[in-house]
Amino acid sequence: MKVIAHRGASGYAPENTLKAFKLAVEMGAKDFEFDVHRTKDGILVVHHDYDLKRTAGKDVKIADLDYAELKKYNVAAHFKRDKLVQHVPLLEEVLDIIEPAADRLHFEVKNDGNVYPGIEERLLAFIESRPGLFGKAVVSSFDHGTLKRFRALSPRLKLAYLGHGLSTMLLLPAIKKARAVGASGFHMALRLAFKLNVSRLRKAGFEVRIYTVNLKKDALRMKRIGVDGIFSNCPDILGNWTLKG
Ligand code: G3P
Ligand code: MG
Repeated sequence: MKVIAHRGASGYAPENTLKAFKLAVEMGAKDFEFDVHRTKDGILVVHHDYDLKRTAGKDVKIADLDYAELKKYNVAAHFKRDKLVQHVPLLEEVLDIIEPAADRLHFEVKNDGNVYPGIEERLLAFIESRPGLFGKAVVSSFDHGTLKRFRALSPRLKLAYLGHGLSTMLLLPAIKKARAVGASGFHMALRLAFKLNVSRLRKAGFEVRIYTVNLKKDALRMKRIGVDGIFSNCPDILGNWTLKG
């Protein structure tokens, strides 16, 4: 079972910052997840929320700011143990750090209601512009329209369905939607990660990955029930990785 560094090593450093990604690499992570947005002037950046209220304590939206403005804010302000200034990183800065170490890169595109029109073309062009990246990339989104647009643009890009508001009852319709876009992965919340659901998804041919798993007992349970990967803020959750250096 893969342990995927969720927003970098975000249990130990401010999420989705260069510090968190560097630390994840130092901890030996091989698989990474991060959230992609687009600034007003069309730059791809990495941050979880659509605005900076939670991370920087500022009521501003990424979609409304040029990157030169956005990078002035300290998105480590919320992280109690280390508030040293960290900026919203460019997607390419993040990739420069993690790509050499990576087996698999999970690009989660935040595009609810198509708030960033054209982000699909831009991200696909970015992925195709870096040698070797296409084969390592998996694109997911809570926004199904976004996945459909990616599939229309590229028949070969690996996509993962990202379950939103799912329940066991809704698993079958979700499987149909995931198949309709040719998803190879199915990403689902921990609260639904029971043996029966996981088995159904694996029988349907999906790689099943579960978010967000931060307790070792849950990680071990995921391994037992045959999950392919867990998104974790703690890349060392299974205790078999050590800090290098
Ligand atoms: O991509 C898996 C997981 O990150 C989805 O939820 O809200 O942490 O982006 P969220
Ligand atoms: Mg995410």
